[in-house]
Amino acid sequence: MAIAADSVTETKTSSVTGFDVQRIREDFPVLRQTVNGKPLVYLDNAASSQVPQVVIDRGSIYLEDEHSNIHRGVHYLSQKATTAYEGAREKVKRFINARDVKECIFVRGATEGINLVMHGYGRKFIGEGDEIIISAMEHHANIVPWQMLCEEKGAKLRVIPMNDAGELILDEYDTLLNERTRFVALSHVSNALGTINPVKQMIDQAHKYGVPVLIDGAQSAPHMPIDVQDLDCDFFAFSGHKMFAPTGSGVIYGKADFLERMNPFQGGGDMIKSVTFEKTTYADLPNKFEAGTPAIASQIGLGASIDYLSAINRVRAAAHEHELMRYATEKLTAIEGVRIIGTAKEKASVLSFVIDEIHPHDIGTILDQEGIAVRAGHHCAQPVMQRFKVPATARASFAFYNTKEEVDVLAETIKRVIDIFS
Ligand SMILES: Cc1ncc(COP(=O)(O)O)c(C=O)c1O
Repeated sequence: MAIAADSVTETKTSSVTGFDVQRIREDFPVLRQTVNGKPLVYLDNAASSQVPQVVIDRGSIYLEDEHSNIHRGVHYLSQKATTAYEGAREKVKRFINARDVKECIFVRGATEGINLVMHGYGRKFIGEGDEIIISAMEHHANIVPWQMLCEEKGAKLRVIPMNDAGELILDEYDTLLNERTRFVALSHVSNALGTINPVKQMIDQAHKYGVPVLIDGAQSAPHMPIDVQDLDCDFFAFSGHKMFAPTGSGVIYGKADFLERMNPFQGGGDMIKSVTFEKTTYADLPNKFEAGTPAIASQIGLGASIDYLSAINRVRAAAHEHELMRYATEKLTAIEGVRIIGTAKEKASVLSFVIDEIHPHDIGTILDQEGIAVRAGHHCAQPVMQRFKVPATARASFAFYNTKEEVDVLAETIKRVIDIFS
């Protein structure tokens, strides 16, 4: 793939946010590509974000100098790998402000994290007639595991509805919470609509009933500071590949007292204290939940991405993303025939849209021909599509390395899509 020196034309630090996007883009080698002869415009960050050179380099260092299995070895390389892996856990702890590293369990991503809680907590503590509350805008990763649990236990899934803007109706949430509620699982930011949910307040409401809350932070962790103590959530799940780290990395945070009482998720090596044919005793946290050889290189990469995020000005990066969203919303809204799906007051980095009479897959395909990567489909949120009576949407999702000029290219190409189909 050719490298296009002119792939980024925005040269000045944004006068609105003071964020030097041009400088930041230099950190991400993949953005220098051309696609179909055009500069790559990468707007699929909600699916997977790109990886900065320092994170790539950290993975190489592990593979070149440290590659070895962790925890079980007394030899030099194993100790080096263990130090790097546990160092990444320390970084995660600081990144989300957990009380203790033992509350940060490494998993493959948000999906595995939510499944871990469903198996470890749900199957032990939720039974027949109990109720689990989720919201109408959940990703399938935060629907299907709870449905499976309900089916197995005879529990009931209750769903907080949303309004036409894609905002949860909090009065309805209040009505759903009752003495049968045993668990609440909510997305922080919707991947299909971009809505930022008022989760702190919603956690508070659930706690009044003594109900634990899991926050699916897959779409919030890359875009905003996360403080699990301030939120007071009982569990928080996120994926590394959506926050500038390799696939296979991710975290489920859990309050220690919950994790201690839960059943392990998987059985195997590294999660035990002792094994006989009669009885196994489990390792202390966090190892109890990390059976087998984990994705060592990827989790070390997650640690490096956290270092990277700590080194850039995250406040300015967030302001830049916010400005991109404002600008893109204004631009797309001005195009006749384009309808934005999800118009909540509080949104982060996701712009879903449909165009009259044109299937989102056709939109995505034509945009790709012009080097623009967006996602077209149901975004693993089919109930959201049903709620808005659309089969699918096209979704542009932003990261701090995107530019207003890329938004201009998107808007102009959408106009061409409409011309082609008219
Ligand atoms: C809100 C949300 N939750 C969960 C997931 C699942 O993440 P992963 O596939 O990394 O496990 C996603 C992925 O798109 C998501 O957007």
